[in-house]
Amino acid sequence: MTLTDLHTHILPGVDDGAKDLEASLEILRKQKKSGVERVALTSHFYPMREELQDFLDRRQRAYEELLYAWDVDTMPQLRLGAEVHYSSSIADMDLRKLSLAQSDYLLVELSDTMVPAHIEQVLKIILSQGITPILAHVERCAYFMEDPSKLLHLIELGALAQITTRALHNKRRQKFAEICLQKNVAQIIASDVHGIWELKTGLGALKESLSGGTIERAEAFARAVWDNTPLPVFEPEPIKRKLFGYA
Ligand SMILES: [Fe+2]
Repeated sequence: MTLTDLHTHILPGVDDGAKDLEASLEILRKQKKSGVERVALTSHFYPMREELQDFLDRRQRAYEELLYAWDVDTMPQLRLGAEVHYSSSIADMDLRKLSLAQSDYLLVELSDTMVPAHIEQVLKIILSQGITPILAHVERCAYFMEDPSKLLHLIELGALAQITTRALHNKRRQKFAEICLQKNVAQIIASDVHGIWELKTGLGALKESLSGGTIERAEAFARAVWDNTPLPVFEPEPIKRKLFGYA
């Protein structure tokens, strides 16, 4: 099985990920060696700090620099995307310019600590444009950990949720990340890699350690997003919070 990584910070010098071309190439070679054949380049975009066109121009320049050095035999296929930081203003933006290879999917990063204002209405507006929001690293969001029904509600509206590979090795987040995948409340696993050191817990490493078809199921979702084809059928189930974990 080959893998698809839909959340990475590999474009050189665009955000807090790969700092230069050399770092980008090193990450890509390592990804390919571990079985990752498709990589979305999802640089951070903060709508409150930067104009959309300025971000797109910076991203394009870095992409061209990377493509010039890219090698078909030793590196995965690449597509442009973005990790769009949530603000209610994104409902008014031309989100196709930020979606994964101008597909019908958009990676959206929510606040870790505060339930985002108007989240339900904004997600509905995005969905009404035929774009499916993928909520990035939901295992980090304290309000979802506290009350998983809040996340379930957004998934039932039509959003997808992504878990980061290193959360599955992290004491504080592992239980919540695992139960989200088990209950189909999260569907996608991605590395969110910023530097080569993070690939120790990347997708390729996870392939060896995760059992029970989890990685295969997550790959089926990631592949559908990559190909912009219908998603596997899934039924999210409620997660109950217990004193020391979830059920
Ligand atoms: Fe990220």
